[in-house]
Amino acid sequence: MERQPLRFAVIGTGYWGINYVRLLSELPDAEVVIVCDQNSARLKEIERRFPRVQVTTDLHTALSQDIDAAVVATNATSHFEVVQACLKAGKHVLVEKPMTTRAAEANQLTALASLMGLKLMVGHIFLYNAGIQKIRTYVAGNDLGKIYYVYAKRTNLGPIRTDVNALWDLASHDVSIFNYLLDARPSWVSATGSRVLCEGCREDVGFMVLQYPNGILGHIHVSWADPNKERELVIVGSEARVVFNDLNPMEQVRVFEKGVSYESMLDPSNHYEYKLLMRDGDIISPRIEAVEPLRNECLHFIDCVLHDKQPLSHGQSGADVIAIMEATNQSLAMNGAPVEIKYEEVDEYKYIFTASPVR
Ligand SMILES: NC(=O)c1ccc[n+]([C@@H]2O[C@H](COP(=O)([O-])OP(=O)(O)OC[C@H]3O[C@@H](n4cnc5c(N)ncnc54)[C@H](O)[C@@H]3O)[C@@H](O)[C@H]2O)c1
Repeated sequence: MERQPLRFAVIGTGYWGINYVRLLSELPDAEVVIVCDQNSARLKEIERRFPRVQVTTDLHTALSQDIDAAVVATNATSHFEVVQACLKAGKHVLVEKPMTTRAAEANQLTALASLMGLKLMVGHIFLYNAGIQKIRTYVAGNDLGKIYYVYAKRTNLGPIRTDVNALWDLASHDVSIFNYLLDARPSWVSATGSRVLCEGCREDVGFMVLQYPNGILGHIHVSWADPNKERELVIVGSEARVVFNDLNPMEQVRVFEKGVSYESMLDPSNHYEYKLLMRDGDIISPRIEAVEPLRNECLHFIDCVLHDKQPLSHGQSGADVIAIMEATNQSLAMNGAPVEIKYEEVDEYKYIFTASPVR
């Protein structure tokens, strides 16, 4: 029997959400039934570009359609409310990052999805980027040797958001990448930030340090006020250094087969006798498949729903990122003092008994 496409509502079609309408409309296993946005000017644009798609400004009208799943690409501060409504209406959900703006809310949504037997996936798009996936194979295959540290830079002139600061907006990408590549969660974070563009606004420049297991440090710098656009992530290991440059489609990933490590000298009783081992090798640019990451992300979500699989960026992993970002804000408020990150494992029973609104 021929399989019916998964029927979607897309909620929020601003700068980013319209990409979901375009991509899902192109996929054979998906059909965009309805688009919902509070802003009717956005809906006019949808009607013009996708005349077969219904539009509405009312979320409940969208959710009362014969749909299987919803993509939520509204502003971050509305994610909790909108995703909760979608799950309660029995729809699988793909929600944009950041999953919510509070860790307790992210946990509640994950518990609710689990109780309802629905898929909840977070749009941590870089996990579906072929370059990042390539680097993950290097890390998992121990090709980089012992990992010393990781750092990322995400700078540009805007686009400035008013509902979250630059760290929540931009560094949440890098945190999700670090967690994925290292297959680990940091124990503490230290963050400093400033408001260079407008004093009363949110932090537009930020620096954060994350402590991962095995002594691995992570550093992230983000800015909405830097005229030099950069999207770079580096991993330094004892055997090699890997650079991911999202702005270089020709050489998105470069592996420098150079490294340095210490090796103990023959006398094991003398701990201070070490020799420096330098390694020098080739610079390799692996072939990276040119596929739009958002397309991979949508295909993965559809596959998870149709075949009852756990999404790579599942609710719990999205909630971990929110716990890290919440601790980041606490550290910002204390001028960079390290803040221990408290991860709450999702507990369905706790949700049933305490699911009063967290706001
Ligand atoms: N993965 C990525 O690379 C990426 C890139 C950009 C944005 N994003 C994320 O996508 C989300 C949206 O960002 P954006 O840049 O498109 O913002 P945007 O402000 O351009 O669009 C948000 C849209 O949501 C609508 N909206 C808000 N609340 C709503 C509600 N309750 N019901 C219906 N519509 C509602 C607004 O009218 C607006 O049209 C954010 O979470 C952002 O972090 C992700």
